[in-house]
Amino acid sequence: MRVLDGRLASGTRLPASRDLAAALAISRNSVVRAYDQLYAEGFIEGRVGDGTYVAQLPQAGTLSSKISTKVSTGFSTGLPTALSTKSPDLPGISSSKVIHSGVLQRLENNHLPRPPSGPPRAFRVGVPAFDLFPFDVWAKLNAAFWRKPDLRQLCYGDPAGDERLRGLIAAYLRSSRGMQCTAEQIVITSGAQQGISLCAQLLVEPGDGVAIENPGYRAAGHAFAVAGARMHGVAVDSEGIDCTQLAAINDCRLAYVTPSHQYPTGVVMSLARRLELLAWAERNQGWIVEDDYDGEYRYTGAPLAPLAALDRQGRVLYVGTFGKVAFPALRLGYLVLPPGLVDAFSRRRAVDVRHSEVSTQVVMAEFMAAGHFQRHIRRMRRAALSRRNTLLAGWPRDIAGVGGLPSVAAGLHLTVPVETLAREQELVESAARVDVEINGLSSYWLPDSRTPLDQRAGLVLGFAAVPEADIRAALGRLDKAWR
Ligand SMILES: Cc1ncc(COP(=O)(O)O)c(C=O)c1O
Repeated sequence: MRVLDGRLASGTRLPASRDLAAALAISRNSVVRAYDQLYAEGFIEGRVGDGTYVAQLPQAGTLSSKISTKVSTGFSTGLPTALSTKSPDLPGISSSKVIHSGVLQRLENNHLPRPPSGPPRAFRVGVPAFDLFPFDVWAKLNAAFWRKPDLRQLCYGDPAGDERLRGLIAAYLRSSRGMQCTAEQIVITSGAQQGISLCAQLLVEPGDGVAIENPGYRAAGHAFAVAGARMHGVAVDSEGIDCTQLAAINDCRLAYVTPSHQYPTGVVMSLARRLELLAWAERNQGWIVEDDYDGEYRYTGAPLAPLAALDRQGRVLYVGTFGKVAFPALRLGYLVLPPGLVDAFSRRRAVDVRHSEVSTQVVMAEFMAAGHFQRHIRRMRRAALSRRNTLLAGWPRDIAGVGGLPSVAAGLHLTVPVETLAREQELVESAARVDVEINGLSSYWLPDSRTPLDQRAGLVLGFAAVPEADIRAALGRLDKAWR
């Protein structure tokens, strides 16, 4: 009634089901059922990671078509492998109710917090030293593209992405990672997150089991959960994901891993574990999604071959991003796919967005071809190493409840153990009061983990986001705040 008579205007955010249930003193299930019904009838809509809102109401007679177009999330891939076989037919209203209720519930259960934004601060996790990006070079290349654009490039392009860029990425991965890939295996994405999300959309049917590292990258878990996966958190030890635990899960069809630098613990997956994981995928006809988000940053020892370079059976989907070498807002990444999957992924991308915007791709291709990319990687690696050393050298010692510093062979962040969860929260909060950003390790665990709460505690610090002087200043403030 309140929606129809305008007392609840379109765009109004509805309370979370848990809060509404508490306010009305009724069970949460009743609220969820009511929301599902409103959703199915088109009165409300959910935005991924952002809650439930009163919908813009369509004219009478258009409601059913609105609902049925929204629920079409997949299409037949035509592949004989274990890809999604979701029907190309748009389901009718009754089945849309079922799908909507599941999606709404999954969105609710998997509220995806937005990564911190605003100017970079010590010790923001997940961002590189992007103050060092050669913006002048980028601006010149960008201006050159737009000054005299090739009109053929301004029409609709290949959904897999710009051909030249795909070729250059393949060449880069062949030389830097030992991957025997070709341009035809590359699909350009809007960053790693879209690559992961495409894997979820195309490889996971509702109800399928998906293994993710626990603790792990929650945004990947959210992408699989929203696709309807039953999530299995698998422990990480000093060699990476625990393959014995993984093998004991019966219904698992996909494992998402970060082998080159486990997120967030920093563990580098051993070769033995890599081979064990590949053997698991072969045995089970399963898929491995390998997220090599910060593989450019290796400080000691030779990098191990990615799973995608060791894969002989076409079971690995490799996710890469330019976000950790350039800057996150560039939203440029790629997938390297087993050849049999490329067409299905490209077609799915065409349905979603047709293809990525042209100029970023063309400019990145020129940036790579002219040697700027390689130079920039070297510069970024040197900067990250120096910022890492500044953090390690100035880290406050002998703080109550805080364990020793780890050795940091790779990546852009490190994790320090803390004795208890209560202490972790105290340290994170007092850091925030002196304008220092630190993530609690406990927030990277799946909520239903069996590991005791205190064993999940720790501090996760990104060391690359700001220059050395800012790191030293932040460490000085921390030292005072924590003592
Ligand atoms: C493990 C992991 N994968 C992927 C990403 C995100 O990459 P993108 O910004 O390209 O989506 C991050 C960002 O912090 C990450 O930590």
